[in-house]
Amino acid sequence: MQERTRWIWLMVFMAVFLISLSAAALQNTGPEEMVLEGGRTGDVSFPHRRHQTALDQKCEICHDLFPQKIGSIQELIDQGKLKSKEIMNKHCVKCHREMKREGKQTGPISCTQCHDKE
Ligand code: HEC
Ligand code: HEC
Ligand code: HEC
Repeated sequence: MQERTRWIWLMVFMAVFLISLSAAALQNTGPEEMVLEGGRTGDVSFPHRRHQTALDQKCEICHDLFPQKIGSIQELIDQGKLKSKEIMNKHCVKCHREMKREGKQTGPISCTQCHDKE
C-alpha cells in the first residue's frame, strides 16, 4: 500500500516537472538578433538575446514600454503613444550612459555605433 502511494507521488511529481519544462521551452523569447527601424539615420542592429542575458531575463525593463512584437515601437509611434526617438533617448541611450558612468560593460552611446548611416 505504502509502495503504491510512493509511486503515485512520483508520477505526480514527474507530470508537474514535464509540464513546467515544456512551458519554459514554449516561452517565446523572440529572435536572438534583430534590426530596428532607425529612419533616415539608418537601421539599428540590436542584440536581443545579449540584452536578456545581461539584464538577468528582466523582460519588463523593455517590454513594459512596448509589447513583445516585431515593429511594436514603430506602431506606438504611429499611434502617437510614443514620440520618435523617445525609446532611443529615454531608454536605450539612457541605460547605456548610466551603466557607462558606473564603469560597467554596456552598449553604445554614439550615433554611428548604433545607426548604420551618419
Ligand atoms: C533591452 C530591451 C529588451 C529586453 C530586456 C527584452 N526585449 Fe524583447 N524586444 C526588444 C525589442 C526592441 C523588440 C522589437 C520591438 C520592435 O520591433 O519594435 C523585442 C521583441 C520581442 C519579441 C517579438 C518577437 C517577434 O518575432 O515578434 C519577443 C517575443 C520578445 N521580445 C521577448 C522577450 C522576452 C521573453 C524577454 C525577456 C526574457 C525580452 N524580450 C527582453 C527589446 C527587449
Ligand atoms: C543605443 C543605440 C542608439 C544610439 C546611440 C542612437 N540611436 Fe537613434 N535610434 C535608435 C533606435 C532604436 C531608434 C528607433 C526607436 C525610437 O525612435 O526611439 C532610433 C531612432 C532615431 C531617429 C528617428 C528615426 C525616424 O526617422 O523616425 C533619429 C533621427 C535618430 N535615431 C538619430 C540619432 C542620432 C542623431 C544619434 C546620436 C546623437 C542617435 N540616433 C543615437 C537607437 C540609437
Ligand atoms: C537597461 C539597460 C539597457 C537598455 C534599456 C538597452 N541596453 Fe543595449 N546594452 C546594455 C548592456 C548591458 C549591453 C552589453 C551586453 C553584453 O555585455 O553582451 C548592451 C549592448 C548593446 C549593443 C551591443 C554593442 C556591442 O558591443 O556590440 C547594442 C547595439 C545595444 N546595446 C543597443 C541597444 C538598443 C538599440 C536599445 C534600445 C532598444 C538598448 N540597447 C537598450 C544595456 C541596455
